[in-house]
Amino acid sequence: MNKAIENAQNIHDLRALARKRAYKMVFDYIDGGADDEKTLKHNSTAFDEYRLAYKVLAGVDKIDMSTSLLGTKIDVPFFCSPSAGNRLFHTAGENAVAKAAGKIGTIYSLSTLSSVSIEDIAALTDGPKWFQLYVWKDRALVKEMINRAKAAGYTALILTVDLPVHGNRERDPKNGFTIPPTIGVKQIWEAIKSPAWVWDYLTGEPIKYANINSDLEATSLIDFIGAQLHAGFTWDDAEWLLGEWNGPAVIKGVVRTDDARRAVKTGFNAVTISNHGGRQLDHSPAPIEVLEDIVQTVGSDAEVILDGGVRRATDILKALALGAKAVSFARPYLYGLAAGGEAGVDKALDLFITSLKRDMALLGARSINEIDQSFICGKR
Ligand code: GLV
Repeated sequence: MNKAIENAQNIHDLRALARKRAYKMVFDYIDGGADDEKTLKHNSTAFDEYRLAYKVLAGVDKIDMSTSLLGTKIDVPFFCSPSAGNRLFHTAGENAVAKAAGKIGTIYSLSTLSSVSIEDIAALTDGPKWFQLYVWKDRALVKEMINRAKAAGYTALILTVDLPVHGNRERDPKNGFTIPPTIGVKQIWEAIKSPAWVWDYLTGEPIKYANINSDLEATSLIDFIGAQLHAGFTWDDAEWLLGEWNGPAVIKGVVRTDDARRAVKTGFNAVTISNHGGRQLDHSPAPIEVLEDIVQTVGSDAEVILDGGVRRATDILKALALGAKAVSFARPYLYGLAAGGEAGVDKALDLFITSLKRDMALLGARSINEIDQSFICGKR
């Protein structure tokens, strides 16, 4: 393993290494949020409002971090959120993330807009896999995708609902971001500053949205995707989708109790509280702020997952204490991926495992089901 990755002490260190290695527009695409990036920052800083009141003499010589999600046993209470086009960040791409998740016994969720196909990922890992879908206009395309995912052994569907239209991410147009990136005169200076990334990019396979039409280069697909996102999608369409999928389903992108209630009534088995990592509506609430209310509203009928702002094991503990069944995240493993491929993803996940084990001992909780509201003081 690259020494700098080995020496990374936390996700912030991996972020710094990602910034160093990746082409600027690629790093900014991972790192950036919408408008003034208030929500992007707030997703993490909102965790600071809660403190952890630890128990002493709790006999913490053995720590069990395992739990389950939608009937799947997982060895840690976190998993990898879906994220688009990972081969753009490092040529190891989605393969690296799927393998790393499998190695630690957790769920890997594949994005519709992945740069490796549904089937290729399925062939790569026996670990639990979920498939993420955006709300598309073309129902035939939706049916085809979910049938492929089912046939390939993905056990749950995640419907992302916080992207009816694309958020205003101002770093991207400033950088001249395109998929795949163009390395023209304007970008040449940035390219010189990230030679390892540029070399991999130039010598690797072209980056494509592998699930949509593998014959099309990603460039020509940007407009297609913009045109395909279905801003008119409603709860009735979601109900249709659930009927087609006919299996465990997660709704991702909810921040309100009434939407959570409606989601459960519609048939979703889990609710992921998320604002798309602060990449969609700026000034939306941080997931941790709305978690308790949503758990109170639907917690007895659905599993609640928190996604957004998680950078430390203590963030995971706070979410679990406030009623989340598990947390998910993308930026932490994407920083690892962009910093150093599979070794970087392994490192990001290992940082969470090592620190969660230590912090559960410090908290005085021997297993996940011992983590309850009594550990929280602060905003309650
Ligand atoms: C895609 O989901 C993105 O947030 O860029």
